[in-house]
Amino acid sequence: MKWKQVPIPANTEDVLRRHEANKQAWNEGAAYYTQNLEQSLEGLRDGKSGIHPVERENLRSFGGLEKWCRRAVHLQCASGYDSLSLLLEGAHEVVGVDISDVHIENARWLTRQLNAEASWYCCDVLEVPVELDGTADLVYTGRGAVTWIQDLGPWAKVIARLMKSGGVFSFLDDHPFIWLISQEDQDLMYSGADYFGHAEESLGWSEAYIGSLGRCVDEQAAKYERLWTVSQLVQSLIDAGLHIRSLGEHREEYWDGFPKLNAEVKKKIPMTLSITAVKQ
Ligand SMILES: C[S@@+](CC[C@H](N)C(=O)[O-])C[C@H]1O[C@@H](n2cnc3c(N)ncnc32)[C@H](O)[C@@H]1O
Repeated sequence: MKWKQVPIPANTEDVLRRHEANKQAWNEGAAYYTQNLEQSLEGLRDGKSGIHPVERENLRSFGGLEKWCRRAVHLQCASGYDSLSLLLEGAHEVVGVDISDVHIENARWLTRQLNAEASWYCCDVLEVPVELDGTADLVYTGRGAVTWIQDLGPWAKVIARLMKSGGVFSFLDDHPFIWLISQEDQDLMYSGADYFGHAEESLGWSEAYIGSLGRCVDEQAAKYERLWTVSQLVQSLIDAGLHIRSLGEHREEYWDGFPKLNAEVKKKIPMTLSITAVKQ
């Protein structure tokens, strides 16, 4: 995997261009999920929820999902494992949104096999159709999601417009601090990223996640990520009119992004960040 720093997108056109590039890259990356589809089906049939314990605890702080979550909307749902897991957690119906057609095809296949109460939209998160406005008891963004979004203001506005009044927003993702740590070293080393303004272009996927897919990195589509600070995330939700209910920083990882890092050091680092918010 190779990365380089790039300028912060200057305008909406830049944002949408980078999202379009990410679509291509994710259509390639989704092949990894396609390979594991039978296994995903088996996991869901066995009732193995993909929802992280921190997410579960945050969601249950509002009561059992079966009582309050008629519809959950999962933004950046990938091939649907975590979306369909929300049904196992008590949601009655899920709607998944993702920019990658391959991911959405996978999610539709899983839905047919399970005869699940789920529907899927293939589009940019910033362009979720208005027919979904005001229909979500829960908007869930899932892990490994927000860094792909190149502009947080419109992202937060989409979340707010999807929510019913009284609806809940749940977020758990990488803590932005970890962008500052090198993934290649055993000791804590600075990665070169600027906490207050980092955007990057990369080629290839981390071995700890999708891997090389049997292809040379230079042949893979370029993809774009941004570091969003804690305050940018929280402020975007406040500006969209949501009320923050909880903000958590956690030692728990959800993937091993630092396989070489000394374990003693690792457990002293905030690996993930969680937020819950409500629309009144
Ligand atoms: C790391 S994956 C999410 C993984 C998911 N939480 C899971 O556990 O399977 C990130 C997802 O974001 C999607 N994505 C990236 N940019 C997007 C955008 N602008 N709009 C919608 N989906 C997007 C990708 O296609 C990919 O499925």
